Amino acid sequence: MKAKILAALRETDGYVSGQELCEAFGVSRTAVWKAINQLKKEGYEIEAVTNRGYRILSVPDLLSENELNSIRKTEWVGKQIYYFDVLDSTNTKANHLAEKGAEHGTLVVAGRQEAGKGRRGRSWSSPANTGIFMTLLLKPELESQNASMLTLVTALAVAKAIKRETGLAAEIKWPNDIVLNGKKICGILTEMSAQIDYVNHIVIGIGINVHNEEFPEELSERATSILLEGGKRVNRAMLIEAVWEEFENYYGIFMETQDVSKLTAEYDMCLANRGKKVRVLDPKDPYEGVAQGITARGELIVDTWESRKLVSSGEVSVRGIYGYV
Ligand code: BTN
Repeated sequence: MKAKILAALRETDGYVSGQELCEAFGVSRTAVWKAINQLKKEGYEIEAVTNRGYRILSVPDLLSENELNSIRKTEWVGKQIYYFDVLDSTNTKANHLAEKGAEHGTLVVAGRQEAGKGRRGRSWSSPANTGIFMTLLLKPELESQNASMLTLVTALAVAKAIKRETGLAAEIKWPNDIVLNGKKICGILTEMSAQIDYVNHIVIGIGINVHNEEFPEELSERATSILLEGGKRVNRAMLIEAVWEEFENYYGIFMETQDVSKLTAEYDMCLANRGKKVRVLDPKDPYEGVAQGITARGELIVDTWESRKLVSSGEVSVRGIYGYV
């Protein structure tokens, strides 16, 4: 009910009368009044004017199921949203929920994580009130060998959403780090539970550095936040919504062909490594070349002095010669 009242207040520029809210949701005036008071306690600034009704003046940067549901415009992502103030890891939680029968599109969001997971067994620093820590559960009709491309699809969605919400020039460091001015602001961890010929489920975990004001010394060369680069605070719930709106669009395009053939042009436009010298850290045979873009299967095209190479994500990592990108 609170989420519905919040959505109704947000949809209108002016006032919504108590009577309208009672009729729309079939509840008493007292119930509306109680819900409004709870919202105020949570930090929403709501003006109440006699004979006119209620008007929302400002929303806090608050993450909750109510807040996320009240702004949700996606078709299937986040039909079921779980929010927790603290979790070990949203990926771990989403995996557990999947095993218990949670549906395709379930979204798990946490205020902070105590055991946030990064790629290659690393940890992901997840302090409270600084970032976005969320995981989407998918149960797709997908061949398992195509699943890794979902990370690229997600990177494209996050880059586009950050641009849309902040105006900042977010780019992608292949395959799936989002960077601003050459430093990382977002990481994506995709995990899959599959049998040889069948995908049980996939979880896509996204960590975005939003309000961080500083980073530990060992990270400060490579990591940054939207606040540090843009100088402004963005509303995390709005950014979450924007990510999933973009994702639904790109995911639909990806599923038509089960590859990124229709997304390469857009991905390449966002590719921070494009035209840059990179070092491919192949454990057997590291080499250097110039990154050109991606293939329809999401491999990075690298031209070395002697030949063209296609680099698969997951196999090796790629570093910039002159910095992180
Ligand atoms: C990386 O190493 O770049 C990937 C980092 C992914 C972090 C996110 S935060 C939300 C989700 N839950 C996790 O435990 N990890 C991912």
